[in-house]
Amino acid sequence: MQERRLLGRQDLEASPVVANCAMNRERDVTGTNGYGIELGVEPLEWLRQRLSRQRVVRWLDLCCGSGKALIQAAEYCESARDAVLASGVVQITGVDLVNMFLPNHSDSLRLIVSSVFDFTPGDRFDLITCVHGLHYLGDKLRAIALAGSWLEPDGMLIANLDVKNMRLGESQLGYQAFARALRAAGFQYDARRHRLQRFGHVDWEPPFHFVGADDTVGPNYTGQPVVESVYVKLCPI
Ligand SMILES: C[S@@+](CC[C@H](N)C(=O)[O-])C[C@H]1O[C@@H](n2cnc3c(N)ncnc32)[C@H](O)[C@@H]1O
Repeated sequence: MQERRLLGRQDLEASPVVANCAMNRERDVTGTNGYGIELGVEPLEWLRQRLSRQRVVRWLDLCCGSGKALIQAAEYCESARDAVLASGVVQITGVDLVNMFLPNHSDSLRLIVSSVFDFTPGDRFDLITCVHGLHYLGDKLRAIALAGSWLEPDGMLIANLDVKNMRLGESQLGYQAFARALRAAGFQYDARRHRLQRFGHVDWEPPFHFVGADDTVGPNYTGQPVVESVYVKLCPI
């Protein structure tokens, strides 16, 4: 059997599967091609509810693509169309590896070119989203742990995740161990909807060591070619 070639972070981030321009980077914030449908939570409605109890709300979107959804959200929040959203301050940050951002004219939105793994936020966030971004990351568990550590104590993280895109050594069914570990750490994982959710800040050290990523595995449930992340279990000392 031919041994497969696993990529480290640098090679993966230059891989055509990750940096290609054909993937959908143009989702809207709401509607049929929107973040709301993909996440099962409408971000604008979530921000609105949060603003009814605090004046400033921070939203971080990892792997934000062109930033289209965020630009729409920022413009909507700044417009006077919604009295609750206009009454407070919504600060939005989008992070993506590739600079394919659409023009942004909102003071309340920052679009940052960075790998998730290099991003260093100055603040914690009330809402962290990652819409079909984890599929393209190598060390998915590290990214999830980082996002958990960037949450406010009562913040919410929600992301699309398919644990079948993570492999424990060469085991075919090893992915179940990732779902168990995430749940044990207080994340909710919905395998049917491929969604990960968490309420509240966490400092979590995943009990797996990232070995490398395979960008040759083909499509996952989204129909797009994705990246499989290979781990080994860390042995307790
Ligand atoms: C399928 S697109 C989704 C974009 C956006 N969330 C949307 O739904 O419109 C996945 C995005 O992940 C980004 N990405 C891949 N690896 C990344 C990394 N290491 N750090 C940040 N962004 C990354 C890609 O550049 C791409 O824009």
